[in-house]
Amino acid sequence: MDRINVGFIGCGGIAQYHFSHFDKMLDKARIAAACDLIPERAQKTAERYPGANVYTDYREMFKKEKLDAVYICVQPGAHNGMEFCAIEKGVNIFCQKPMTLDMSYAKKVWAGIKKKKLISAVGLQCRYSDSWDFIKGFIGRKIASNDIAMVSAYRIGGFPMVWWWRRFEQSGGQAVEQTIHNFDILRWIFGEVKQVSSVRRRGVIRDIEDHNSDDASSTLITFKNGIIGTFNTGCFGGSEGDTTAYYRNGNIKYSLFGNYTVTEPNRTITGKPTNDAGQECDETFVDAVRGDIDRSEILSPYDDAMKTLAFVFAINKSMDANGAPVEPEI
Ligand SMILES: NC(=O)c1ccc[n+]([C@@H]2O[C@H](COP(=O)([O-])OP(=O)(O)OC[C@H]3O[C@@H](n4cnc5c(N)ncnc54)[C@H](O)[C@@H]3O)[C@@H](O)[C@H]2O)c1
Repeated sequence: MDRINVGFIGCGGIAQYHFSHFDKMLDKARIAAACDLIPERAQKTAERYPGANVYTDYREMFKKEKLDAVYICVQPGAHNGMEFCAIEKGVNIFCQKPMTLDMSYAKKVWAGIKKKKLISAVGLQCRYSDSWDFIKGFIGRKIASNDIAMVSAYRIGGFPMVWWWRRFEQSGGQAVEQTIHNFDILRWIFGEVKQVSSVRRRGVIRDIEDHNSDDASSTLITFKNGIIGTFNTGCFGGSEGDTTAYYRNGNIKYSLFGNYTVTEPNRTITGKPTNDAGQECDETFVDAVRGDIDRSEILSPYDDAMKTLAFVFAINKSMDANGAPVEPEI
Protein backbone atom coordinates (compact mmCIF):
# COMPACT_ATOMS: atom_id res chain seq x y z
CA MET A 1 0.00 0.00 0.00
CA ASP A 2 1.08 3.59 -0.67
CA ARG A 3 1.92 5.83 2.21
CA ILE A 4 -1.10 7.25 4.03
CA ASN A 5 -1.56 11.04 4.18
CA VAL A 6 -1.59 12.50 7.67
CA GLY A 7 -2.49 16.05 8.71
CA PHE A 8 -1.62 17.71 12.01
CA ILE A 9 -3.77 20.30 13.79
CA GLY A 10 -1.53 21.82 16.45
CA CYS A 11 2.22 21.70 15.83
CA GLY A 12 3.39 22.47 19.38
CA GLY A 13 5.10 20.37 22.01
CA ILE A 14 3.32 17.03 21.75
CA ALA A 15 3.32 17.18 17.94
CA GLN A 16 7.15 17.08 18.10
CA TYR A 17 6.88 13.84 20.10
CA HIS A 18 4.65 12.34 17.40
CA PHE A 19 7.00 13.61 14.66
CA SER A 20 9.89 11.74 16.30
CA HIS A 21 7.82 8.56 15.86
CA PHE A 22 6.75 9.41 12.29
CA ASP A 23 10.42 9.86 11.42
CA LYS A 24 10.80 6.13 12.02
CA MET A 25 7.85 5.12 9.81
CA LEU A 26 8.06 7.45 6.83
CA ASP A 27 7.72 4.42 4.58
CA LYS A 28 4.17 3.99 5.88
CA ALA A 29 2.92 7.54 6.33
CA ARG A 30 3.68 11.04 5.11
CA ILE A 31 2.91 14.31 6.85
CA ALA A 32 0.84 15.94 4.10
CA ALA A 33 -0.50 18.98 5.96
CA ALA A 34 0.39 21.01 9.02
CA CYS A 35 -2.03 23.43 10.64
CA ASP A 36 -1.38 25.75 13.56
CA LEU A 37 -2.79 29.12 14.61
CA ILE A 38 0.86 30.16 14.95
CA PRO A 39 2.01 30.15 11.29
CA GLU A 40 5.70 29.63 12.12
CA ARG A 41 4.90 26.32 13.84
CA ALA A 42 3.09 24.98 10.77
CA GLN A 43 5.87 26.34 8.55
CA LYS A 44 8.54 24.64 10.65
CA THR A 45 6.69 21.35 10.28
CA ALA A 46 6.69 21.76 6.49
CA GLU A 47 10.45 22.36 6.60
CA ARG A 48 10.83 19.09 8.47
CA TYR A 49 8.51 17.29 6.02
CA PRO A 50 9.03 18.82 2.55
CA GLY A 51 5.83 18.73 0.53
CA ALA A 52 3.56 19.26 3.53
CA ASN A 53 1.05 22.08 2.95
CA VAL A 54 0.78 24.78 5.59
CA TYR A 55 -2.47 26.07 7.13
CA THR A 56 -3.62 28.29 9.97
CA ASP A 57 -7.29 27.33 9.53
CA TYR A 58 -8.20 23.66 9.82
CA ARG A 59 -11.41 24.18 7.81
CA GLU A 60 -9.29 25.25 4.87
CA MET A 61 -7.06 22.23 5.41
CA PHE A 62 -9.97 19.79 5.29
CA LYS A 63 -11.36 21.56 2.21
CA LYS A 64 -8.12 21.26 0.23
CA GLU A 65 -6.47 18.06 1.45
CA LYS A 66 -7.26 14.41 0.92
CA LEU A 67 -6.22 12.99 4.27
CA ASP A 68 -6.37 9.45 5.59
CA ALA A 69 -5.83 10.53 9.19
CA VAL A 70 -5.55 13.64 11.31
CA TYR A 71 -3.65 14.17 14.56
CA ILE A 72 -5.44 16.66 16.80
CA CYS A 73 -2.82 18.10 19.13
CA VAL A 74 -4.36 21.32 20.46
CA GLN A 75 -4.79 22.18 24.13
CA PRO A 76 -7.83 20.70 25.93
CA GLY A 77 -9.80 23.96 25.87
CA ALA A 78 -9.26 24.52 22.11
CA HIS A 79 -11.33 21.71 20.63
CA ASN A 80 -13.78 23.82 18.67
CA GLY A 81 -15.07 21.64 15.87
CA MET A 82 -12.04 20.11 14.14
CA GLU A 83 -13.24 16.59 14.94
CA PHE A 84 -16.55 17.26 13.16
CA CYS A 85 -14.73 18.46 10.02
CA ALA A 86 -12.67 15.27 10.08
CA ILE A 87 -15.78 13.13 10.56
CA GLU A 88 -17.60 14.88 7.72
CA LYS A 89 -14.66 14.17 5.42
CA GLY A 90 -14.30 10.57 6.61
CA VAL A 91 -10.83 11.17 8.08
CA ASN A 92 -9.59 8.84 10.84
CA ILE A 93 -8.76 10.61 14.10
CA PHE A 94 -5.88 10.46 16.57
CA CYS A 95 -6.74 12.89 19.37
CA GLN A 96 -4.56 13.97 22.25
CA LYS A 97 -5.79 13.56 25.81
CA PRO A 98 -7.85 15.10 27.39
CA MET A 99 -9.91 15.17 24.19
CA THR A 100 -12.09 18.06 25.40
CA LEU A 101 -13.25 19.58 28.66
CA ASP A 102 -16.90 19.07 27.75
CA MET A 103 -18.40 15.58 27.90
CA SER A 104 -21.32 16.50 25.63
CA TYR A 105 -18.78 17.50 22.95
CA ALA A 106 -16.98 14.15 23.36
CA LYS A 107 -20.29 12.31 23.03
CA LYS A 108 -21.04 14.05 19.74
CA VAL A 109 -17.56 13.28 18.45
CA TRP A 110 -17.92 9.60 19.34
CA ALA A 111 -21.38 9.44 17.73
CA GLY A 112 -19.82 10.77 14.49
CA ILE A 113 -16.83 8.41 14.62
CA LYS A 114 -19.17 5.48 15.17
CA LYS A 115 -21.60 6.49 12.44
CA LYS A 116 -18.83 6.85 9.87
CA LYS A 117 -17.01 3.73 11.17
CA LEU A 118 -13.80 5.74 11.47
CA ILE A 119 -10.68 4.54 13.27
CA SER A 120 -9.89 6.51 16.43
CA ALA A 121 -7.09 6.62 18.97
CA VAL A 122 -6.31 8.81 21.97
CA GLY A 123 -2.81 9.73 23.17
CA LEU A 124 -2.82 7.53 26.27
CA GLN A 125 0.42 5.95 25.11
CA CYS A 126 1.48 4.52 28.50
CA ARG A 127 -0.84 1.58 27.80
CA TYR A 128 1.56 0.37 25.10
CA SER A 129 4.46 -0.68 27.38
CA ASP A 130 4.85 -4.42 26.89
CA SER A 131 5.33 -5.11 30.62
CA TRP A 132 1.58 -4.54 31.24
CA ASP A 133 1.05 -8.10 30.05
CA PHE A 134 2.68 -9.29 33.27
CA ILE A 135 1.24 -6.58 35.53
CA LYS A 136 -2.31 -6.83 34.21
CA GLY A 137 -2.17 -10.61 34.30
CA PHE A 138 -0.80 -10.71 37.85
CA ILE A 139 -3.26 -8.17 39.24
CA GLY A 140 -6.11 -9.58 37.16
CA ARG A 141 -5.72 -13.00 38.79
CA LYS A 142 -5.66 -11.40 42.26
CA ILE A 143 -8.79 -9.40 41.43
CA ALA A 144 -10.51 -12.57 40.19
CA SER A 145 -9.78 -14.32 43.48
CA ASN A 146 -10.91 -11.20 45.40
CA ASP A 147 -7.49 -10.81 47.05
CA ILE A 148 -6.64 -7.18 46.27
CA ALA A 149 -7.58 -5.08 49.27
CA MET A 150 -6.49 -1.61 48.27
CA VAL A 151 -4.45 0.57 45.96
CA SER A 152 -2.23 3.45 46.96
CA ALA A 153 -0.92 5.79 44.27
CA TYR A 154 0.77 9.14 43.88
CA ARG A 155 2.21 11.33 41.15
CA ILE A 156 4.08 14.55 41.79
CA GLY A 157 4.75 16.18 38.45
CA GLY A 158 6.39 19.34 37.23
CA PHE A 159 4.60 22.43 35.96
CA PRO A 160 4.54 22.57 32.13
CA MET A 161 5.30 26.13 31.06
CA VAL A 162 2.94 26.36 28.06
CA TRP A 163 0.66 29.41 28.57
CA TRP A 164 -2.61 27.48 28.76
CA TRP A 165 -1.54 24.94 31.38
CA ARG A 166 -1.92 27.35 34.30
CA ARG A 167 -5.46 28.32 33.24
CA PHE A 168 -7.99 25.88 34.68
CA GLU A 169 -10.55 26.67 31.97
CA GLN A 170 -7.99 25.72 29.28
CA SER A 171 -6.29 22.70 30.83
CA GLY A 172 -9.03 21.25 33.03
CA GLY A 173 -6.62 21.28 35.98
CA GLN A 174 -3.74 19.09 37.04
CA ALA A 175 -5.67 15.87 37.67
CA VAL A 176 -7.45 16.11 34.33
CA GLU A 177 -4.54 17.21 32.15
CA GLN A 178 -1.55 15.50 33.74
CA THR A 179 -2.58 12.66 36.00
CA ILE A 180 -5.15 11.45 33.45
CA HIS A 181 -2.47 8.97 32.28
CA ASN A 182 -2.27 7.41 35.76
CA PHE A 183 -6.04 7.39 36.25
CA ASP A 184 -6.39 5.77 32.83
CA ILE A 185 -3.99 2.94 33.73
CA LEU A 186 -5.76 2.56 37.06
CA ARG A 187 -9.18 1.90 35.49
CA TRP A 188 -7.58 -0.22 32.76
CA ILE A 189 -6.03 -2.52 35.39
CA PHE A 190 -8.46 -2.41 38.31
CA GLY A 191 -11.74 -1.98 36.44
CA GLU A 192 -14.42 0.67 36.26
CA VAL A 193 -14.82 3.23 39.01
CA LYS A 194 -17.96 3.41 41.13
CA GLN A 195 -17.29 6.72 42.83
CA VAL A 196 -14.63 9.24 43.79
CA SER A 197 -14.28 11.76 46.54
CA SER A 198 -11.65 14.42 46.00
CA VAL A 199 -10.28 17.59 47.54
CA ARG A 200 -7.94 20.14 46.02
CA ARG A 201 -5.07 22.32 47.27
CA ARG A 202 -4.27 25.68 45.73
CA GLY A 203 -1.94 28.52 46.69
CA VAL A 204 1.32 26.55 47.02
CA ILE A 205 2.66 27.62 43.62
CA ARG A 206 2.80 31.40 43.94
CA ASP A 207 5.47 32.40 41.43
CA ILE A 208 3.61 31.66 38.19
CA GLU A 209 1.59 34.56 36.86
CA ASP A 210 -2.07 33.96 35.96
CA HIS A 211 -2.07 30.51 37.58
CA ASN A 212 -5.64 29.71 38.69
CA SER A 213 -5.45 25.92 38.72
CA ASP A 214 -4.92 23.10 41.22
CA ASP A 215 -1.50 22.57 42.81
CA ALA A 216 -2.46 19.24 44.33
CA SER A 217 -5.37 16.94 45.05
CA SER A 218 -6.20 13.87 47.11
CA THR A 219 -8.77 11.41 45.82
CA LEU A 220 -10.50 8.43 47.42
CA ILE A 221 -11.58 5.88 44.84
CA THR A 222 -14.07 3.02 45.09
CA PHE A 223 -14.00 0.58 42.18
CA LYS A 224 -17.11 -1.29 41.09
CA ASN A 225 -15.46 -4.58 42.18
CA GLY A 226 -15.11 -3.28 45.75
CA ILE A 227 -11.39 -2.42 45.70
CA ILE A 228 -10.64 0.88 47.41
CA GLY A 229 -7.81 3.28 46.71
CA THR A 230 -6.20 6.66 47.21
CA PHE A 231 -4.47 8.93 44.73
CA ASN A 232 -2.38 11.94 45.76
CA THR A 233 -1.13 14.13 42.97
CA GLY A 234 0.41 17.54 42.43
CA CYS A 235 2.46 19.65 40.03
CA PHE A 236 4.68 21.56 42.44
CA GLY A 237 7.96 19.96 41.41
CA GLY A 238 9.88 16.85 40.67
CA SER A 239 8.75 13.97 38.61
CA GLU A 240 7.92 10.89 40.56
CA GLY A 241 5.11 8.54 41.34
CA ASP A 242 3.98 4.97 41.49
CA THR A 243 1.00 2.78 42.25
CA THR A 244 0.99 -0.07 44.76
CA ALA A 245 -1.71 -2.72 44.99
CA TYR A 246 -1.85 -4.57 48.32
CA TYR A 247 -3.03 -8.12 48.84
CA ARG A 248 -2.64 -10.51 51.78
CA ASN A 249 1.09 -10.81 52.53
CA GLY A 250 2.30 -9.01 49.48
CA ASN A 251 2.14 -6.11 47.12
CA ILE A 252 2.90 -5.14 43.54
CA LYS A 253 4.23 -1.70 42.75
CA TYR A 254 4.34 -0.28 39.22
CA SER A 255 5.34 2.95 37.53
CA LEU A 256 3.38 4.73 34.82
CA PHE A 257 5.53 3.26 32.06
CA GLY A 258 5.37 -0.25 33.47
CA ASN A 259 8.42 -0.90 35.68
CA TYR A 260 7.24 -3.25 38.41
CA THR A 261 8.21 -5.03 41.61
CA VAL A 262 6.30 -7.79 43.35
CA THR A 263 7.22 -8.12 47.02
CA GLU A 264 6.21 -11.16 49.05
CA PRO A 265 7.83 -12.77 52.14
CA ASN A 266 9.74 -15.36 50.08
CA ARG A 267 10.14 -13.76 46.69
CA THR A 268 10.71 -10.56 44.80
CA ILE A 269 9.93 -10.23 41.09
CA THR A 270 10.99 -7.20 39.10
CA GLY A 271 10.56 -6.29 35.47
CA LYS A 272 10.43 -3.43 33.03
CA PRO A 273 9.21 -2.73 29.51
CA THR A 274 11.40 -3.57 26.56
CA ASN A 275 9.66 -1.33 24.02
CA ASP A 276 9.02 2.37 23.33
CA ALA A 277 5.35 2.90 24.27
CA GLY A 278 5.01 6.20 22.37
CA GLN A 279 6.38 4.71 19.14
CA GLU A 280 4.14 1.68 19.54
CA CYS A 281 1.08 3.86 20.12
CA ASP A 282 1.58 5.85 16.89
CA GLU A 283 2.57 2.82 14.82
CA THR A 284 -0.50 0.89 15.96
CA PHE A 285 -2.79 3.73 14.83
CA VAL A 286 -0.99 4.16 11.50
CA ASP A 287 -0.97 0.39 10.87
CA ALA A 288 -4.70 0.21 11.62
CA VAL A 289 -5.45 3.10 9.24
CA ARG A 290 -3.35 1.38 6.56
CA GLY A 291 -5.34 -1.80 7.12
CA ASP A 292 -2.18 -3.71 8.06
CA ILE A 293 -3.65 -4.69 11.45
CA ASP A 294 -7.13 -4.82 12.90
CA ARG A 295 -8.36 -1.65 14.63
CA SER A 296 -9.04 -3.71 17.78
CA GLU A 297 -5.27 -3.57 18.43
CA ILE A 298 -5.62 0.12 19.30
CA LEU A 299 -5.53 0.11 23.10
CA SER A 300 -7.20 3.47 23.64
CA PRO A 301 -9.92 4.24 21.08
CA TYR A 302 -12.02 7.38 21.58
CA ASP A 303 -14.95 5.66 23.32
CA ASP A 304 -12.73 3.93 25.87
CA ALA A 305 -10.85 7.19 26.57
CA MET A 306 -14.23 8.81 27.26
CA LYS A 307 -14.56 6.52 30.29
CA THR A 308 -11.26 7.83 31.61
CA LEU A 309 -12.44 11.37 30.87
CA ALA A 310 -15.57 10.66 32.93
CA PHE A 311 -13.33 9.43 35.79
CA VAL A 312 -11.22 12.62 35.87
CA PHE A 313 -14.22 14.91 35.35
CA ALA A 314 -15.84 13.22 38.37
CA ILE A 315 -12.71 14.08 40.37
CA ASN A 316 -13.06 17.77 39.41
CA LYS A 317 -16.77 17.71 40.20
CA SER A 318 -16.10 16.23 43.62
CA MET A 319 -13.43 18.87 44.30
CA ASP A 320 -15.95 21.56 43.43
CA ALA A 321 -18.29 20.00 45.99
CA ASN A 322 -15.65 19.84 48.75
CA GLY A 323 -15.12 16.11 48.46
CA ALA A 324 -18.70 14.93 48.05
CA PRO A 325 -18.87 11.48 46.39
CA VAL A 326 -19.37 11.63 42.62
CA GLU A 327 -19.98 8.82 40.14
CA PRO A 328 -18.25 9.03 36.76
CA GLU A 329 -20.86 9.78 34.14
CA ILE A 330 -20.80 9.86 30.35
N1 LIG B 1 0.16 12.16 25.68
C1 LIG B 1 1.03 12.89 26.34
O1 LIG B 1 1.90 12.38 27.06
C2 LIG B 1 0.98 14.38 26.23
C3 LIG B 1 2.08 15.16 26.60
C4 LIG B 1 1.99 16.53 26.45
C5 LIG B 1 0.81 17.12 25.97
N2 LIG B 1 -0.24 16.34 25.65
C6 LIG B 1 -1.52 16.93 25.20
O2 LIG B 1 -1.36 17.46 23.88
C7 LIG B 1 -2.19 18.61 23.74
C8 LIG B 1 -1.31 19.77 23.28
O3 LIG B 1 -0.30 20.02 24.23
P1 LIG B 1 1.08 20.71 23.81
O4 LIG B 1 1.97 20.53 24.98
O5 LIG B 1 1.51 20.26 22.48
O6 LIG B 1 0.61 22.24 23.74
P2 LIG B 1 1.28 23.41 22.87
O7 LIG B 1 0.73 24.68 23.40
O8 LIG B 1 2.75 23.21 22.82
O9 LIG B 1 0.70 23.12 21.42
C9 LIG B 1 -0.65 23.28 21.08
C10 LIG B 1 -0.70 23.91 19.71
O10 LIG B 1 -2.04 23.90 19.23
C11 LIG B 1 -2.22 25.08 18.47
N3 LIG B 1 -3.65 25.35 18.32
C12 LIG B 1 -4.56 25.67 19.27
N4 LIG B 1 -5.79 25.81 18.73
C13 LIG B 1 -5.66 25.58 17.40
C14 LIG B 1 -6.54 25.60 16.31
N5 LIG B 1 -7.84 25.88 16.45
N6 LIG B 1 -6.06 25.33 15.07
C15 LIG B 1 -4.75 25.04 14.89
N7 LIG B 1 -3.84 25.01 15.90
C16 LIG B 1 -4.30 25.29 17.14
C17 LIG B 1 -1.48 26.14 19.27
O11 LIG B 1 -1.21 27.29 18.51
C18 LIG B 1 -0.24 25.37 19.69
O12 LIG B 1 0.83 25.54 18.78
C19 LIG B 1 -2.85 18.84 25.09
O13 LIG B 1 -4.14 18.29 25.09
C20 LIG B 1 -1.98 18.07 26.07
O14 LIG B 1 -2.69 17.60 27.19
C21 LIG B 1 -0.18 14.98 25.76
